[in-house]
Amino acid sequence: MGQVIAADFEAKPVIAGAAPQGATDKASAALAVRGMFTAIAPRYDLANHLLSLNIDRLWWNRTARAFSAILSRPESRILDLCCGTGDMTFALRRRARSRAAQILGADFSHAMLQRAASKGKGSMPRSPQWIEADALRLPFPNGHFNLVTSAFGFRNLADYDAGLLEIARVLAPGGECGILDFGAPAGIIGKCYRIYFKKILPAIGTVLSGVRGPYAYLPASVERFPSPDEMLGRMHQAGFREVSWTPYTFGVAGLYRGVKSV
Ligand SMILES: C[S@@+](CC[C@H](N)C(=O)[O-])C[C@H]1O[C@@H](n2cnc3c(N)ncnc32)[C@H](O)[C@@H]1O
Repeated sequence: MGQVIAADFEAKPVIAGAAPQGATDKASAALAVRGMFTAIAPRYDLANHLLSLNIDRLWWNRTARAFSAILSRPESRILDLCCGTGDMTFALRRRARSRAAQILGADFSHAMLQRAASKGKGSMPRSPQWIEADALRLPFPNGHFNLVTSAFGFRNLADYDAGLLEIARVLAPGGECGILDFGAPAGIIGKCYRIYFKKILPAIGTVLSGVRGPYAYLPASVERFPSPDEMLGRMHQAGFREVSWTPYTFGVAGLYRGVKSV
């Protein structure tokens, strides 16, 4: 599948970010997002794997593979943002094999992190470390990490530009960023997918999680998310070069990449 590189790097003055129903500003949006994920944490993995027919595992592994070079360096420091129950973080850990790369998963939902920590117990020689933190106010010094990833989490931030600037701040010059998130496939596949994503998925997700709301928010948040061209422009504005988007599975998901300018 081809790669799309943004051609239009115009500044986008409007604040873009997640806006769950009822949220009136960035603070209330973040609170609502945290509440939603905390509510679905107990059934999150089950719902995720069933609703994605396990394709999510392929996407996490493919993303980890894209950063093999950084993961194979023993001195690398890696942060997986919005790690939830840790599947992206574990994919990074597996790809790094037993090498000493330091891998950290961060999320602002305590309930999600608890599940990540319990999944990691005894399962691998060097389990990732977990930290409760807001992606928009990370408790790390400038230039600390060589790689920052986020899988299906970045879209939930209340301010995408602030999120990109914070990722750029904690990355060392030359460090890389990888954002995996849903996309909008085109053509007949897109049509079928949209019926599934907007009608069937919210109904099944609500039954599986036992919580009304979060699975209706999911398609709405994907619809609000910037197009690949716009997202790449925002990454460029935030100080990333060599920005690219690689579609996964006909564009149902895709990986945004960028290198922090030196
Ligand atoms: C859809 S889940 C993705 C979890 C995991 N990365 C995965 O691929 O399954 C999104 C996660 O982002 C977290 N999140 C959303 N906004 C956040 C923020 N501002 N700071 C930290 N975590 C955030 C939520 O708590 C949730 O666990």
